[in-house]
Amino acid sequence: MKIGILGTGMVGDAIGTKLVQLGHEVKMGSRSVNNEKAAAWVKKNGRHALQGTFADAAAFGEIVFNCTSGMASLDVLRMAGADNLKGKILIDVANPLDFSKGMPPSLSVCNTDSLGEQLQRAFPETKVVKTLNTMNCQVMINPSLVKGEHDVFVSGDDADAKAKVISILKDWFGWKSVIDLGDIKTARGVEMLLPFWITLRGQLQTGTFNFKIAQ
Ligand SMILES: NC(=O)c1ccc[n+]([C@@H]2O[C@H](COP(=O)([O-])OP(=O)(O)OC[C@H]3O[C@@H](n4cnc5c(N)ncnc54)[C@H](OP(=O)(O)O)[C@@H]3O)[C@@H](O)[C@H]2O)c1
Repeated sequence: MKIGILGTGMVGDAIGTKLVQLGHEVKMGSRSVNNEKAAAWVKKNGRHALQGTFADAAAFGEIVFNCTSGMASLDVLRMAGADNLKGKILIDVANPLDFSKGMPPSLSVCNTDSLGEQLQRAFPETKVVKTLNTMNCQVMINPSLVKGEHDVFVSGDDADAKAKVISILKDWFGWKSVIDLGDIKTARGVEMLLPFWITLRGQLQTGTFNFKIAQ
């Protein structure tokens, strides 16, 4: 498939690399067409790895990943362009973390709203599916890094889009347990897990862990 990645940070790099390794063509988008991090990623990943602006990546992708700073994601999607995202699945892995007052970050939206909902409201013709935001980016694409059974969550309004994303999580990334939380409103809960995740990372002294829901 042709896949657009919005974001040149470690998450865009990790997901983009995995997708190229799986044989997909991937375009990484940035504010600038010749972003240095994207250029380094292209160099590392060969001819199926491309770079461009956010709009270039969104237009290129049959599916688009949002791997941008949560505080900037709405602006990024506006730069990507509603027409370029129309009718497409947007896999939203971003967290609305506000680092403006230092560590630990707070959430710029929570309780009665979420970044996932903000994106879905602003781009109603795009199918936003929130997932993969509750673990680090190496675990996202290689869940076997964490021993035993553990879970990834999905939230979204469009049932077909969620089914497609669940198959991507299982067949491409190797997830065994995917919990469908419901509509995009359920993104509130998984985004609000982040302060807890950050505390755990500090206490465990590693980012290689995940949540397991026991019944
Ligand atoms: N790190 C992890 O393991 C992890 C795990 C789960 C979820 N997440 C979430 O995944 C997302 C990506 O994380 P990351 O660490 O890879 O990258 P990041 O540093 O949070 O974001 C980098 C991207 O955001 C864009 N950006 C930043 N400020 C912007 C602004 N003012 N206007 C427009 N674009 C702006 C950058 O654009 P340019 O390319 O133009 O510089 C870049 O593409 C975040 O929301 C994070 O919370 C991260």
